[in-house]
Amino acid sequence: MAFFDQQVGVLIDEQKLQSRIRELGRQLTEEYRGKELTLVGVLKGSVFFTTDLARSIDLPLTLEFLGLSSYQGGTETTGEVRITSDVTKPMAGKHLLVVEDIIDTGLTMKFLLENLRARNPASVKVCTLLEKPARARTQVPIDYRGFVIDDVFVVGYGLDYGERFRNLPFIGVFRGS
Ligand code: IMP
Ligand code: MG
Repeated sequence: MAFFDQQVGVLIDEQKLQSRIRELGRQLTEEYRGKELTLVGVLKGSVFFTTDLARSIDLPLTLEFLGLSSYQGGTETTGEVRITSDVTKPMAGKHLLVVEDIIDTGLTMKFLLENLRARNPASVKVCTLLEKPARARTQVPIDYRGFVIDDVFVVGYGLDYGERFRNLPFIGVFRGS
């Protein structure tokens, strides 16, 4: 029995996940051709998505990561967002694609977009693997999305519950501890 069997049910399996990411990669390859693309991955949840997406984009690009904290723990957002670790290079003049694991209430992305726009990039777009529209509390422009999901708490492929389950290669529904 695998370590997660009792607590997690598969929602989006590895094959479906990877084939959608390759599709997004092809789309981004067309849209950013000739531009200086920088992927800005949001730690820690989007690490797996960012690295797979980067490898499916057939263009020169640079990678940056930014650490944000919007959770006190548990499964509910507190609405309070902090930058826990910043990018390493100036963002001015760059075409930024923010890569996020999930947009839930949207509060984290709203904060991040305001913060990045203040650094005068050439453009800022948003690519999220998952969107949970049922819980949106603010309008966030989503340019690229992997999957729209119902209002369930998901783990795996970077997403965690109390720092656990990030290493599952699929998206699963957390059933409780
Ligand atoms: P938002 O600010 O409510 O949109 O939440 C954004 C962050 O909350 C995401 O980047 C995740 O880190 C976390 N989050 C939201 N929903 C889930 C979930 O279903 N599972 C795991 N983490 C989640
Ligand atoms: Mg996140």
